[in-house]
Order: sequence, then structure tokens, then C-alpha cells
Amino acid sequence: MNKEIAFQIMREYEKKQDDVIREIKRKTQEVYSKIPLIEKIDAELSKISLYFIKNSFYHPDKSQEYIVQLKKKINTLKEKKIHMLTANGYPPDYLEPKYQCQDCKDTGFVDGKKCHCYKRRLIEICYEKSNLKEVLKTHNFNNFRLDFYSEDVDPEQGMSPRQNMQQILERSRKFIQSFGENDGYSFLFYGRSGLGKTFLSYCIAKELLDRGYVVLYLTSTDLFDILREFKLSDDDYTDEHIQMIFDSDLLILDDLGTEPLTGFTLQELFNVINKRLIHGKRMIVSTNLTLDEITSYYPERIYSRLLGNFKLFYFFGEDIRLKKRDI
Ligand SMILES: Nc1ncnc2c1ncn2[C@@H]1O[C@H](COP(=O)(O)OP(=O)(O)OP(=O)(O)O)[C@@H](O)[C@H]1O
Ligand SMILES: [Mg+2]
Ligand SMILES: [Zn+2]
Repeated sequence: MNKEIAFQIMREYEKKQDDVIREIKRKTQEVYSKIPLIEKIDAELSKISLYFIKNSFYHPDKSQEYIVQLKKKINTLKEKKIHMLTANGYPPDYLEPKYQCQDCKDTGFVDGKKCHCYKRRLIEICYEKSNLKEVLKTHNFNNFRLDFYSEDVDPEQGMSPRQNMQQILERSRKFIQSFGENDGYSFLFYGRSGLGKTFLSYCIAKELLDRGYVVLYLTSTDLFDILREFKLSDDDYTDEHIQMIFDSDLLILDDLGTEPLTGFTLQELFNVINKRLIHGKRMIVSTNLTLDEITSYYPERIYSRLLGNFKLFYFFGEDIRLKKRDI
């Protein structure tokens, strides 16, 4: 992503802060006109607060007792104000700022780091731009069809594609339910084309997005395009999209194995998988490659992670794309 999006988000935060301030001003005027005493309390409060700040700033050695007394006075006035408000039928926090995000107070940052609401907004914008929102309207668990998977037992697998998919579905539900837990694990979906790997990844993405998690969906080609562009650009602006590759709660990496295998892609793939594993960030990786192909195409440091740290799910059965065409 680019500067444009970062600016858009910052403008949104400024607007939110502005709205909060205007709303408080409006409410304050309303309260003053109904309860003039509160205006007097407020005037007194700002006078004492100023004293308090001046004294603690310019005379830090001034008797602690005096400071404590000022504090006490401030608290008493605040209590009185709340009492007046509630006595007149207002909620006690009527004049408190109502931020949409209490954590960053609608600034987008907490301790210099991006707040969760910033990250969420960023991904929303990415979705709007990538049309994933449209895809998820149809690709979700409501439209998941088990009847595309045959009930005939596959002798090689010792179960039917339907039984297999039921198990995968069960594990996917657990994956979603336990998503916030620390000992997160990742999924590797592998199998031939048209068996629903991408579809199921979308279903899981939708559930997690609805629960407020940040999910990034990228095909392997997208991933390397982004990383390549980042590497080649001389713009040292921290690229938001790059950050999402490492920071998103879930990274869906689709069609692994369609990228060219070069020193660059192998190094970057290792980097992404390794960093996410170290930080306990989950992934769903899908591929048409067999396990044998994975071990022969990728160096050990990549395949040992994919096969050792991911839960593997083999998709088998008949191509759903062909089945859908028959209907
Ligand atoms: N469980 C399902 N219910 C309904 N439709 C499905 C289901 N699974 C897959 N489909 C549909 O079948 C088609 C193929 O599915 P999908 O693209 O997920 O396969 P894939 O395993 O990712 O294939 P590839 O390896 O080629 O990427 C898509 O049109 C998808 O919408
Ligand atoms: Mg797919
Ligand atoms: Zn926030």
C-alpha cells in the first residue's frame, strides 16, 4: 500500500477527534444553559488545575501536602459536577469524550505503535481495493456445500472425500474458535485443482474478519510481487502492505508453488514463514504440490517448517469446477 492510504487513515482519525471535541462542546453548552452551577464549577476546576500544574512544574519541592490538598479539591469539584449531572437526569459520563476506540483515543497510535483499530481500518481499505469483500459475500460457510464431495470411499485414503471434508471442516471450526489463543497453529491445504482449498480459506477468512481479526489474503504471485516492488523501490517509506504480511493475524497464502523458484523468492518465503512462526502468527497455505514435490522444490529450512509446524490437510475427490459445470 502507499502513502495515499496512510494519509486517508490519518485524515479519518483527525475527523473523528474533531467530531469528539465538537460533540463535547455542544453538550457542555447544553448543560451550562440548563445547570448554570456546572459552568461555575468548571471555571473553578480549570483555575485550580492550572495552579496544580504550575505548582508541580515550577515548584516541585513545594510541600507535598499542598499538592495533595489541590488534588483533593479537584476531586471534590469533579464529584460535585457528576452529582449535579445525575441529579438533573444526565448520565455521569455525559461530558466525557466518547472515542470510537478507547485504546488510542482515536489517534490511531498507542505508545508510538499502530493501534489495532488502525490495522483493522487498513485491512478494510485493502479489501475495498482488492474486491475481497465481494468474494466473501458468496464464498462463506453459509454457501459451503458438502454434497460436492462424494460419499464413495477412496480405497487409497481409506475414507470418502465427504468424510475427509467433514474432518477438515471440524478442524477449521476449532481453528476459528481457538484463534485468539497463543499456541496458534497453521494449516497447509494441499491437493489437486478444484477441490475447494481456496473456497475453504475464504470461509475461514470471513469468520475471522467478522470477529475483528486482521486477515490478509494473497496468492503466492501477489506476495512476491509486493516483496519485489518493495525491494526495488527507492522510496524508503514504510510500506503498509509489507507490514501486513508480517503483522496480520492471519495470512492466507494461496497457490504456493506457482511462483518462480529463485534465490529471491526462496529467501523471502523463508523469511515470511519463519518470522510469522516465531511470533506465533497463523497462516493458511494452499498448494497443488504433493508433499514429495514440496520437499524436492524447496530447501529443507522451508519444507521442514511447512511440514513440521503446519497441520496438513489433504484434499481429494473430484474437481468441483467440473461438477459445477454439470449442474
Ligand atoms: N465446499 C464448497 N461449496 C461450494 N462451492 C465450492 C466448495 N468448494 C469449492 N467450491 C467451488 O468450486 C470451485 C473450485 O474451488 P476452489 O477454487 O476453492 O478449488 P482449489 O482447491 O482452490 O483449486 P486450485 O488448486 O486450482 O486453486 C470454485 O468455483 C469454488 O467456488
Ligand atoms: Mg485455489
Ligand atoms: Zn485505536
